[in-house]
Order: sequence, then structure tokens, then C-alpha cells
Amino acid sequence: MTGKICGTGSYTPSFTMDNHDIAKLVDTSDEWIQERTGVIRRHIIQEETTVSMACEAGRRALENAKMSADEIDLILVSTISSNVVIPCTACEVQKELGAVNATCFDLSAACTGFVIAYNTALSYITAGIYKNVLVIGSESLSNLTNWKDRGTCILFGDGAGAAVVKACDQKTYIPVTHSDGASGEALKCSSRYDRNGLTKKVIPEEWMDNRYLMQMDGRAVFKFAVKSVPQAVEEVLDKNQIQKDEIVWYILHQANRRIVESVAKRLGESIEKFPMNLQEYGNTSSASIPILLDEMNRSGKLKKGQKIVLAGFGAGLTWGASILEWCL
Ligand code: COA
Repeated sequence: MTGKICGTGSYTPSFTMDNHDIAKLVDTSDEWIQERTGVIRRHIIQEETTVSMACEAGRRALENAKMSADEIDLILVSTISSNVVIPCTACEVQKELGAVNATCFDLSAACTGFVIAYNTALSYITAGIYKNVLVIGSESLSNLTNWKDRGTCILFGDGAGAAVVKACDQKTYIPVTHSDGASGEALKCSSRYDRNGLTKKVIPEEWMDNRYLMQMDGRAVFKFAVKSVPQAVEEVLDKNQIQKDEIVWYILHQANRRIVESVAKRLGESIEKFPMNLQEYGNTSSASIPILLDEMNRSGKLKKGQKIVLAGFGAGLTWGASILEWCL
């Protein structure tokens, strides 16, 4: 017993900022951003929230799966940018969609979040605990972005993606996941909630600009990604006795075109197997893989029986890879 994806959905805000818009905020240029990252524009929330985007992506995934909300028995939302602390985003999604039979919780693993949420769904299904799981990645990273820092604000965007994972009798593929908390300083965003008034902590003025917004050592994260992702992919293929030529698509977290190209090169695989949409959305953290999966599903690129590798990496540090067989 394992799970198969039987529907996908996504939502991205209609408001966009291209690189020229960013160049009005910080000292940068369209040419620099495109050359170093591949990003051309990003979609940014206006009226939307992490919850509202998660709901819309989830609704679209259910429609695509031809399932009703009350058939879902688990909702998992991966997010680092929920606009509410409690209730969790997954419970808000349950309320909006009317998924009255679902158990709901959120999961925080940054840009590896969708891969880990997908693995969690499979684990529950394999254990016979749940049958139909709605897995969502939803992020409003614009709320955590330091719009005065050209080293980070060029990279991120907002959006949500979702997949319905259903129990089936297919072969189970064992995933690979890793974490390195000791290197977590490379990409961080500290607590917004340590001002309880009882500890009498004095918050330095400069923290208001930086500490509560994302801070990143770009070079360190880049090095980590180009080394750890190919290793995780090799490991997951090896563990499941799958050869590279059996893999049709490598769907990587969409952080940076140069990272994707480097991973392809290190694996000795054609870049054609690595679809990208980061030029349109930037890095949407745990939403990037399901948004890309949904676009590929709806454009007919994914065919029944194709073997696909999903690979995520990001803050924590965390990284991992999973293999799935497309069933739609
Ligand atoms: N526009 C113009 N110049 C910029 C710039 C920008 N937006 N950001 C940095 N620079 C400058 C730096 O100040 C530096 O100038 P200097 O040589 O005069 O000191 C120069 O460009 C090179 O900086 P560096 O940080 O080495 O650039 P880079 O090639 O590493 O690119 C990133 C920076 C952020 C694009 C790159 O490190 C990266 O993509 N890292 C991975 C980030 C990531 O994917 N994070 C999320 C993972 S989930």
C-alpha cells in the first residue's frame, strides 16, 4: 500500500513585480538578477493571505482529483509564513473547504516542506491510518522579505500549490531526507513573538529591520544546495534500485536557475529533464514544487507511468528527494 497523486492545484497572486520594479527599491538591475538567478518576475500578495492561497490551491486540487472535500481525512499544510499562529493554516483550509472529516496540521520545513509533507502523507497512508490526504504548500514570503536587502529581496515570491494523495496498491518508493541544524545560521528569520512583556527584554532597534525578516548567506546556501541535492537524488535512486534513465522528470525546488543547472550537470543528466518556472514566480519555498507539478499536469507534460524525482532543499538546513510514478 502507498499513495498516488490523483489531483493537483495551485494559486498565485495576479499582482506581479518584475526585476525593474525591484531595481526601484534596491541597487540592482534586471540583467544582474536574470544572470545570477534566472528570476524575471515574482507574484506578490495583495488581498491574498497564506490561508486564502492554500484554500484556493486545495480547492483546485480537489476539483482536479474529482473528489469532494468530505472525502479527505488528512490535510497537511507546509508553510513558514502563515498569517495566523493559531489556528493552524490546515484547520483554516478545512473550514473554508468544508473538509469536515479531516485531521489537520501544519508542518514547517521551509523549502523542503512540500517533499517532507508528501512523505508524511505517504507514511500515514502506508500505515493504514489515512486514505485521502490533501497536501498543500503555501507561502507569503513577501511578508518575511527584507525589501532593503538586495541579497535576498530579488529571490522570493508568493503562491500556493497542492496535491491530493490517495491510497493505492502501487509500489512504495522509499524517500531520502536529511537535516543539518548546525548550519542553520545560513538562512534564518527569527521569532516575531519574543516580546511577551514579562521578560523585560529590550529589542535592539536594528532587529526590527533585520531579525524579524529573512537573512541569508547566499554563497553558503548556494554551495550547500549544489552539493546536497545531487547527493540526495543519487541516494534515493540507489535506495530504490532505479536507474537515472528511468527518470523522466526531476522536479526541483525552484530557488535559482544556476542551482538547477548545476544539479543537472553533477548528475550527468540533460537539463531538459529539469523543468523550471522560477523565472515567473521566484522562490516560493514550499509552494514551488507543487506549483510546478500543477502546471506540468495541466499542460499535459506528465504522462501515466512516468517516474519523477521531487527534490527540495532550504532553511534548517533541510533537504530530501522522493520518487513517484505519475498515475493520472
Ligand atoms: N544586485 C547587484 N549586485 C548584487 C546583488 C544584487 N541584487 N546582490 C549582491 N550583489 C553584489 C554583492 O554585493 C557583491 O558585490 P562585491 O563583489 O562588490 O562585494 C557581488 O554582487 C557578488 O555577491 P555574491 O553574494 O557573491 O553573489 P552571488 O553570485 O553569490 O549571487 C545570490 C547572490 C543570492 C543570487 C546567490 O548567492 C544565490 O542564489 N544563493 C542561493 C540563495 C538561495 O537559493 N536561497 C534559498 C534557498 S531555499
